[in-house]
Formats: sequence, structure tokens, C-alpha cells
Amino acid sequence: MSEKDLRFNSLTIHGGQQHEEATGAVMPPIFQTSTYAQSHPGGHKGFEYSRTQNPTRMALENSIASIEGAGYGLAFGSGLAAIDAVIKMLEPGDEVISTNDLYGGTYRLFMQIFSKYGIKFHFTGMAESETVAALVNENTKLIWVETPTNPMMNIIDIEAMAKVAKDAGALLVVDNTFATPYLQRPIELGADIVMHSATKYLAGHSDVVLGLLAVKDKEVADRLYFIQNSSGAVCGPMDSFLTLRGIKTLHVRVQRHCENGKAIAEYLREHPQVESVYWPGFDSHPNHDIARRQMKDFGGMVSFRLKGDKLEDAVAVVSKLKVFTLAESLGGVESLAGHPASMTHASIPVEERLKTGVTDGLVRLSVGIEDVDDLIADLEQALS
Ligand SMILES: Cc1ncc(COP(=O)(O)O)c(C=O)c1O
Repeated sequence: MSEKDLRFNSLTIHGGQQHEEATGAVMPPIFQTSTYAQSHPGGHKGFEYSRTQNPTRMALENSIASIEGAGYGLAFGSGLAAIDAVIKMLEPGDEVISTNDLYGGTYRLFMQIFSKYGIKFHFTGMAESETVAALVNENTKLIWVETPTNPMMNIIDIEAMAKVAKDAGALLVVDNTFATPYLQRPIELGADIVMHSATKYLAGHSDVVLGLLAVKDKEVADRLYFIQNSSGAVCGPMDSFLTLRGIKTLHVRVQRHCENGKAIAEYLREHPQVESVYWPGFDSHPNHDIARRQMKDFGGMVSFRLKGDKLEDAVAVVSKLKVFTLAESLGGVESLAGHPASMTHASIPVEERLKTGVTDGLVRLSVGIEDVDDLIADLEQALS
């Protein structure tokens, strides 16, 4: 059976993988080497230096390309290093249109690093494609989408954004960290590049920091391989191995994250201390129809706002949790809670974060795969 006949739940395990030639090892060895012997100058076996290529990293790069339905994969030392490589394709004077509801670190990279090199960033809500199209001009080179958004769980219509990008002659990049390719495959919906903080669901065990890109076309991939090698923000073989191992169970983990996420969202919606719950699976969610269309399920990320919207109440709740750990990050097997205003989104100016709904009383949960009754009992004691 060739790889193109395999379904997603088989691709997570086999996509882009081969048994190792020398020994038949079923799992890719951790090639902990910086360099490779040459019989004469240029006489090598396809590997020269591990910044440029490493067999363990390559196994991971092939895996992400396979599960995203892309032509090419690239791995980096962090999600932000992957984003950094994408923006380095641009020239001074080029413009990017980005969702205004995005991860704070991405915003900081855009505004505090790349702005000073003459790249211009526009931030806008992306609920209506006309709003995005109105910002397009001859300098627009990239449209940056994060969906579901962090932490407000808005859903952006990827197909609609792909059309705006195509009309503008720009590339569409989708940060697929929250959804993972189990729930949503942006390249099939028209994206050119898919970006991941693999630190989250793909690696899945909160034990590695790593970034990935999946790229549709060779021309774009070649530009990115050049940047990957020239700037050098690559990941090591051990972290590549851990991420690849995580990807092999992605489908079973995310399925359970979705089941638990739904149960928690429904529990919170009924809770008297909770003002509103942000989870795209609710019929009442403003983008529920798009979520149904472009996602297979609704994920394990749930945000909620406490009645009164007070900082001290949100801080008290997250500090009382015992099964949920108060910590940055998301997407691991264990449940985490965060207070976006003071943690993940502290680098976004207050007026900007308030515009998108990141108020002081907002709590974000990364619902893990523990027994859901234990998670609900923990929320119950923390909210009481
Ligand atoms: C949606 C999203 N994109 C990108 C990143 C950055 O990834 P990393 O922390 O691996 O650099 C994060 C990190 O939290 C994220 O949540």
C-alpha cells in the first residue's frame, strides 16, 4: 500500500517514515552527530553538517509534511524560530496582514523585531474577508492567520482568507498549533504554509520546545530551507525524536482532548460564577458554522470569563487549581490553566488585548487527557 492511500490515523505513525537502512531499526535512531564522514571532498551520503541536514530531523520534517498534506517540511528550535524564518522571506517595505487575536510572542516578534527592519504589519479582525481585502495593497506579501485564535477561540475561515491571499498575490500562512492537522488541514483549504509550535499538541507531553513548517510548493520551501540553514535556528536530534514520537499518538490524544474539552466547556457554561465560555463547539459561538465546516472536532482549549471580570478573582481561581497546573503553554497530556492578561499575552499592549476580549477576568484552560471527572471536581473546588 503506498503512502497516498493511508488515512490520517495511519499517517501519524507511518507518514514519511522508513525503517533505518543500516540496522532495520523500526524507530528512527537519534543521530546525535554534528558532522558526517566524507570519502573525498563532496563524497558523502547526503548529509554533510547537522545544521543543514540531520537524519532524525529529516524523519520529523517528512512526518509533518505527510500529516499536513504538504510537499515539504522544516523543523526549528521553537515555534517562534519557525515564524522568524517565514518573515525573513520578506524585504523592507513588504507588508503583512495578521489576525489581531494572536499569540503574544508572535505579536512581539512582528512588532519589536521585524518592524525595525522595515516590514509593516497590519492587525485586524478576520471575521469578514472584506476587512482583510481592504488592507491589501501592492506591498502585501503575506497573510497571517491563527485559528482557533489564542485565547479567544475565534475561528477564521481559511478558505476565505486563501481567496484574499490569492487575489493579492500573497502567501497565506496558518498557525495550526491549536487545531493540529488531526482537526484541520489548512493546505487542503488553500494555505501555502502551515506553522506549528510543536511544543504543544504535536509533541504533546510538555517536554520539548520545537517549531515546524509544512509547505505546499517547492519554490517557497527552497527559500525557507535556505533561511533555515543560513540563520541556523534548527532543533537537535533528541528533540526531533521526541516530537516524532509524540506525533505517533496525536490522533488518539487529540480525540480525548476534544471529548474532555467539550465536557469542561459544558460544565463551565452552567456554572454560576462564570460569565461566558469561549469554545467553538457551542451553537452560540459566533463562528460555529465555520468551525463545523473546516474542523473535524472542536479541540481541548477552553477560555472563560468570570462574573465581575476581576483580576484578583481570576488569579484566585487559577491559584487554587490542583489537578490543572498553573503554567504557560498548552497541548500536553496534562491539564494546564493560564491567566492570559498576565502570562501569555502580557507582551501585548493593554489597549490591544482589551480590543480582542483578553480582559483581566479571563482564564484559559488547556484541557488534558486525565479522567474528566477529576478535572471537573478540581474546577468545582477552585470556583467555589
Ligand atoms: C499559537 C502559538 N503560536 C506560536 C507559539 C510559539 O511557539 P514556541 O513557544 O514553540 O516558540 C505559541 C506558543 O505558545 C503559540 O501558542
